[in-house]
Amino acid sequence: MTGRFISFEGIDGAGKSTHIQAVADWFRARGADVQLSREPGGTPLAETLRDIVLSQPMGSLTEVLLMFAGRRDHVETIIKPALAAGRTLLCDRFTDASFAYQGGGRGLPLAVLEPLADWVQEGTEPELTLWFDLPAGQAAARRVGREVGSREADRIEQLDLEFFERVRAGYAARAAKAPGRIVRIDASGTVEQVGAQVLAVLSARYPAC
Ligand code: TMP
Repeated sequence: MTGRFISFEGIDGAGKSTHIQAVADWFRARGADVQLSREPGGTPLAETLRDIVLSQPMGSLTEVLLMFAGRRDHVETIIKPALAAGRTLLCDRFTDASFAYQGGGRGLPLAVLEPLADWVQEGTEPELTLWFDLPAGQAAARRVGREVGSREADRIEQLDLEFFERVRAGYAARAAKAPGRIVRIDASGTVEQVGAQVLAVLSARYPAC
């Protein structure tokens, strides 16, 4: 049995988390065994690394190594077993985020990122990635709205607009290289408008579902 691996990407504040739940509901209504996960995180070890990477000062190379260390544990202990059991695994971020944030945002070269991705993933790749795209300024405004009364911005969320525009460009470059897998969702509209695009992609991709 092989399941489905679908990832969700976008700059902080793009609104992807709202839509992951709707995608889970869509698959569950069609009888799928849905499992949700996230990166950085998804296992006890990777969640510990997440806490460190989002709070402690560190250089870009250390940051990417911790992201991939957590990913390795996540791939081995959660993703591969879920797919082997035939589940539909919905993951809030995966390797594209490292290419966008540490590659586009921090400026690490592909010569660093590509071998890490190969070693860590060993061919485990999402079959579909929904990329929630919107300008960095709009995403920042949404983050401000969300943060009122809730937790404070983490170490990466505190970075400036230029950083997030570079991350956005990193996602665009990644999407250009994998047009069949990465589908751009225009995340600038209302929750309903964005949700309608997501459902249209699912219906087109999984007509038999
Ligand atoms: P989250 O807020 O979506 O849970 O993600 C936490 C932060 O980690 C977010 O700012 C994106 C960042 N991130 C990277 O920089 N590289 C990665 O590989 C991943 C998975 C996330």
